[in-house]
Amino acid sequence: MADSTEWHSVRRGRGGARRGKLSQPEKPRPDESVDRARDRRRITEAINELRCEDFWTEWKEIMSGCLADTVDKTVEGPDCFMECVCYGLGNFSSSVSARYQLAMLLLLLDALQIAVGRCSLYDPVFTVSECETLRELGFTVLSENEEGKRAVHHPTLFYLMHCGKALYNNLLWKNWSPQILPKVIVLGNSFLGIQERMLQRELERDYRFLSDVIDVCEETSLPCSQRFLDVFNDTAIIRFPSHKLHKLPESIWNEPSEPQYEHCQDLEIIQREPK
Ligand SMILES: C[S@@+](CC[C@H](N)C(=O)[O-])C[C@H]1O[C@@H](n2cnc3c(N)ncnc32)[C@H](O)[C@@H]1O
Repeated sequence: MADSTEWHSVRRGRGGARRGKLSQPEKPRPDESVDRARDRRRITEAINELRCEDFWTEWKEIMSGCLADTVDKTVEGPDCFMECVCYGLGNFSSSVSARYQLAMLLLLLDALQIAVGRCSLYDPVFTVSECETLRELGFTVLSENEEGKRAVHHPTLFYLMHCGKALYNNLLWKNWSPQILPKVIVLGNSFLGIQERMLQRELERDYRFLSDVIDVCEETSLPCSQRFLDVFNDTAIIRFPSHKLHKLPESIWNEPSEPQYEHCQDLEIIQREPK
């Protein structure tokens, strides 16, 4: 492990709900480029470590199979490139978990032949320097807090590691149709795990889209070694196959109203400022 003491600073819980930007714009510091070079070196080290893990080989095989399946079934014509969106990565320059998750994202993009430039990232806690490092790596850094409400046009892999339930629920709401949802692939917290940890009536009341789709999504859990449990535990790839979605009653798709979360005590995501 590159920096074993940092393991203790990894936050396992889910963040509390907050509105607006969490971090104030930072003043550029003279040694920032040194920090970024250090961050990039650590990311490379993390990639090399993950490559040696048996579970990486399993991830690669599982993910390649799932994505090939999705692209074959949901894309007509030559428009078959994949996109990727990553929300909620966290501060990868200070958090070891976030750094390994970033390293895993880079490994996956390479293995799945998704160009890094087709991958957009957003986390309201990213520092100016982290945004710059991500751009140097070739990523597209989003400037708007979408709250997960991203409309999908091409098959898109959403990389949401240990993210708040509202991000998943918002993403489902925005793409709530049996034609579009099959283009959405989520790599994130197991939906079945979320269901197990919540009272059913609260899941139905607060996260209606998650609740409605749980029984018909296809979930494949992704393994990880003991050493990386904190970083990749409870992770699954979740898909929404068309033939299963069609088992839901027709009425479920009608006029889905935007989630409001007025009853949620602990929303776990940072919402955008009201205009
Ligand atoms: C529990 S932390 C997980 C961090 C990291 N992935 C990990 O596993 O340690 C949830 C992350 O979601 C981010 N987040 C909260 N609201 C968000 C939003 N609207 N869009 C994207 N990310 C958001 C938080 O800033 C935080 O970094």
